[in-house]
Amino acid sequence: MNVQTLSRPVTAVEAEWLALGVFEGQTEPPASVQGTPLGAVLELLIQNKDLPGDVGSAVSLHGVAGVAAGSVLVFGLGPRDGFSAGDAFEAGVAVSKRLAGKKRGAVAVALPDGAVSAATASALTEGLVVGTLGCGIRKGEPTRHPFESLLIVAPEASGDVEAAVRRGVIVGESVNLARDLTNTPPAEKTPTRLAARAREVATEAGVGVDVWDEARIRAERFGGLLGVAAGSEEPPAFVVLDYLHGGDAPTLALVGKGVTFDSGGLSLKPSASMEDMKSDMTGAAVVLATLNAVARLKLPVNLRGYMVLTENMTGGKAMKLGDVLTPRNGKTVEVLNTDAEGRLILADALSYAAEAKPARLLDLATLTGACMVALGTKIAGLFSNDEPFANAVLDACRATGERAWRMPLDDDFKDLIKSQVADLKNVGGKWGGAVTAAKFLEQFVGETPWVHLDIAGPSWADSDGATRDAGGTGCFVRTLTTLIESGCTPAPQGSG
Ligand code: BES
Ligand code: MN
Ligand code: ZN
Repeated sequence: MNVQTLSRPVTAVEAEWLALGVFEGQTEPPASVQGTPLGAVLELLIQNKDLPGDVGSAVSLHGVAGVAAGSVLVFGLGPRDGFSAGDAFEAGVAVSKRLAGKKRGAVAVALPDGAVSAATASALTEGLVVGTLGCGIRKGEPTRHPFESLLIVAPEASGDVEAAVRRGVIVGESVNLARDLTNTPPAEKTPTRLAARAREVATEAGVGVDVWDEARIRAERFGGLLGVAAGSEEPPAFVVLDYLHGGDAPTLALVGKGVTFDSGGLSLKPSASMEDMKSDMTGAAVVLATLNAVARLKLPVNLRGYMVLTENMTGGKAMKLGDVLTPRNGKTVEVLNTDAEGRLILADALSYAAEAKPARLLDLATLTGACMVALGTKIAGLFSNDEPFANAVLDACRATGERAWRMPLDDDFKDLIKSQVADLKNVGGKWGGAVTAAKFLEQFVGETPWVHLDIAGPSWADSDGATRDAGGTGCFVRTLTTLIESGCTPAPQGSG
């Protein structure tokens, strides 16, 4: 999709569609159309209380005089007070979802005067790009068509806005990369194939990549990953990514859970709970997508990424309850539920990542159903051993509108993962399952400042809505990119 920034009166923009954003409760048409026939139509909509207000709402107008564009889509942005990048993103998704169902020529999109900043222009563009990809990736007929060209109309267009739009395209495409990987059927993204895809993406983006095969994984003593992979015909893989362009700046390490299908293993999941378990590799996909975004944005930072990939299956060699695994750092783990596999593979990946002594370490994992019980399907659990780092991530979430909520990591939870036969067991008790899982992970990061995001909820959307598609969401690619842009090094005042 060809994307450009345009500074021209909205009525003069030549395009198949002009999408015009308006605020909730606006009492007059945007200044840019006042005194024009389009302005008169908007006045009527306002009088009849039919002007779209909510983010996601819109009305189509055809044959409006005095407008160079063929048709006009008036779309809601929510209230003017507190209009945020998150609103702009969702509105962008909604516009594309409305218009990309058919092949289109040029689509022009305009925010109201005064609402354009670098942050909103980027977020709007991200949303517009994200909305042109649906989850029906294996349908005979495509359900979504990227526009021939996308024009972001900004009356106050400056170099900043142009750069923000270019950034938005890169970030939006990276979110779509993560979504596409999550939506890919599990047979098509075995650990070997997903690692090969990661190599392609990384090479294309200018990210260093090293793919470990099973022999290397064994040589590196990844006992947790090997234990989980034992139940599958498919060998595991471990992908090491690096983008080191920050000179002396400290390094941020990202670790992603990449279970390409989670059947539960011998502690088998019921069928309904297994339906969307192709999404259990979202953490790994988000790590790859974030490295892709950062490299394509050419940010001057030091970043490493680790994707730990395996299936969790029930083959004849599958790990059994009571088996004891020894992850990389030597702590022994008694397996009492094979469906708590994420923490077993992350134990190796976190230990390995921490050995390189990054300044900060962040993992993303679709780790526990318990986190969804606690926070619902749209909010990630954030666990951390480091206040400044936790706050930096929460600040980045506020900037993008992606949601995470701080969860406890108190020491008494450690008692719940003590084993009678080994150092640890891989399940806690009935209660606080997201916390015991996080407490388990903490045993493998040493002293490294660390944030764990449990993304079991926000990684996946069960149903389609006006502002988002069903299926993989690519959550936190936008937030991590923002975090990295803000400087991923510990700040002296602890503001990140
Ligand atoms: N991948 C699942 C967690 C999950 C559940 C992600 C629902 C997305 C949606 C994870 O491997 C798992 O099975 N966790 C178990 C842990 C339990 C056995 C301690 C769970 O949450 O039930
Ligand atoms: Mn599981
Ligand atoms: Zn899992």
